[in-house]
Amino acid sequence: MKKILLAGATGYLGRYIAAELQDRNYPTRIVVRNKNKILVNKEYTETIVAEVTDPAQLSGKMNDVEVVISTVGITRQKDGLTYMDVDYQANLNLLKEAEKAGVRKFIYVSALNADKLTHLKGCKAKELFVQALKGSGLDYCIIRPNGFFSDMAEFLKMAQKGKAELFGDGEYKMNPIHGEDLAELCVNAIDTEVKTIEVGGPEVLTHNEIAELAFHTLGKKVKISYMPDWMRKTILWFARTFTSSKKYGPMEFFFTVLSMDMVAPEYGTRTLSKYFKELKDDL
Ligand SMILES: NC(=O)c1ccc[n+]([C@@H]2O[C@H](COP(=O)([O-])OP(=O)(O)OC[C@H]3O[C@@H](n4cnc5c(N)ncnc54)[C@H](OP(=O)(O)O)[C@@H]3O)[C@@H](O)[C@H]2O)c1
Repeated sequence: MKKILLAGATGYLGRYIAAELQDRNYPTRIVVRNKNKILVNKEYTETIVAEVTDPAQLSGKMNDVEVVISTVGITRQKDGLTYMDVDYQANLNLLKEAEKAGVRKFIYVSALNADKLTHLKGCKAKELFVQALKGSGLDYCIIRPNGFFSDMAEFLKMAQKGKAELFGDGEYKMNPIHGEDLAELCVNAIDTEVKTIEVGGPEVLTHNEIAELAFHTLGKKVKISYMPDWMRKTILWFARTFTSSKKYGPMEFFFTVLSMDMVAPEYGTRTLSKYFKELKDDL
């Protein structure tokens, strides 16, 4: 059976992909930098400790691999590295090693609309890698998911503090997706001919609806305030001018994608209300 190499296995999505590969009995090798963050059963999954930012550490690690899956990217990491160091260069290191080893296919997780938002540093780095992947000659699949449930936890945190702050009039729409549903789709991509998949979860919700769900989950009175667009832009301007790009980058991304509709073809079965109920106990 095909051997799969998974990079990013200690992240939110990567952990679900590692579990999905194990459940489906794919011989799997994961590349991690911190063994303590592995959740999957190590008895059935081969582990390599390596820094994907250092090509020398990847040398020879893909010789018997047929498919590479990468979810490597900066979300909240504070390693002092840039999006270009990680989202672009670390993935390029993986791609170069895959080419050397004769890997058949590379599956890469980018983000919904990253190809249209390349003025944002994170999206630009991701899309530069997408261009390299498309030009590599390897078979590939680029997955463009909507926001993950893990990020929707911010709504629950705002509700816990007693007030949710939303952009515009709160009527922007999105369909966030659970990591477990997305992992299933990523593993299905091993055998699909499709080159690009845009995907979101099964429910399209407005930000008002998500905030209300968060308040109801906690049994609290709904209280929402709205930030007009001029204020969002002013805050972004101050952040861009007075903070480092490493701080500003993630903020710019969230302030942008939360001030537009983000709706992708629906996939999966897991609902946000169930996720919020599970998360409530961990707050
Ligand atoms: N979260 C969302 O809502 C969302 C939506 C659409 C697309 N995406 C994209 O999907 C991908 C996966 O997201 P996620 O939420 O699963 O992210 P995550 O939990 O932060 O996981 C990212 C993975 O990348 C690895 N990584 C980051 N910086 C690294 C570095 N300097 N060296 C080595 N490894 C590094 C992390 O390793 P460690 O565990 O060791 O830090 C982790 O395994 C990202 O590219 C993200 O931008 C996310």
